[in-house]
Amino acid sequence: MGLFESLYDPMMKPLEWLGVQKWRQLVINKAHGQILEIGAGTGNNFAYYPANSVVYALEPSPVLRQKASEKIPSNTNFTLVEGIAEKLPFADETFDTVISTLVLCSVNDLEQAIREMQRVLKSGGRLLLLEHVATRQPLGLALQTAINPAWKRMFGNCHLNRNTVAAVKKYFPSVATIPFVGDLVVHLDATKTG
Ligand SMILES: C[S@@+](CC[C@H](N)C(=O)[O-])C[C@H]1O[C@@H](n2cnc3c(N)ncnc32)[C@H](O)[C@@H]1O
Repeated sequence: MGLFESLYDPMMKPLEWLGVQKWRQLVINKAHGQILEIGAGTGNNFAYYPANSVVYALEPSPVLRQKASEKIPSNTNFTLVEGIAEKLPFADETFDTVISTLVLCSVNDLEQAIREMQRVLKSGGRLLLLEHVATRQPLGLALQTAINPAWKRMFGNCHLNRNTVAAVKKYFPSVATIPFVGDLVVHLDATKTG
């Protein structure tokens, strides 16, 4: 098991208490219908899905999929799937809701992942994201950019300085955003139009 995979839950624990848990709840509460969660990790969102939810949870790491399988609530209908965001193993227009939390910072190809999210959503379907992103503060951004190379190596390809909001707006013209911690973390709520 990689260091990142074994340390993820203990590392996240204080952050969950400080606010991440609350943000997860806000995002997951909006899910409805046929749901796809991308990059499910150790399953830290699973507890927040309403009873009887039908969720496909995609995760590339077998170790994390195993951990996630232990957090599936008994009153839901989960299917764990191997795969990556850039090549989703689902037909076009399959899902009412696509969810991803703290994942677009780590994918290899940000725009391809967003295109895939758009492809598998039904028309009128919702993309719900929670991401840490590049700050608009020039000094803060310089700091994020300076530590990004080392950070990526330590934390599973996690990029500190991605302009995820702009990338999502390119493919989803209808996006509402709620910022947290200044503008360091953002909840994006986008609808697939057309
Ligand atoms: C920081 S963790 C977040 C896990 C979980 N979503 C959460 O909120 O706790 C990043 C996750 O993204 C997954 N990941 C990395 N690259 C990915 C990709 N290309 N497609 C899908 N998931 C990916 C990792 O395996 C890991 O589970």
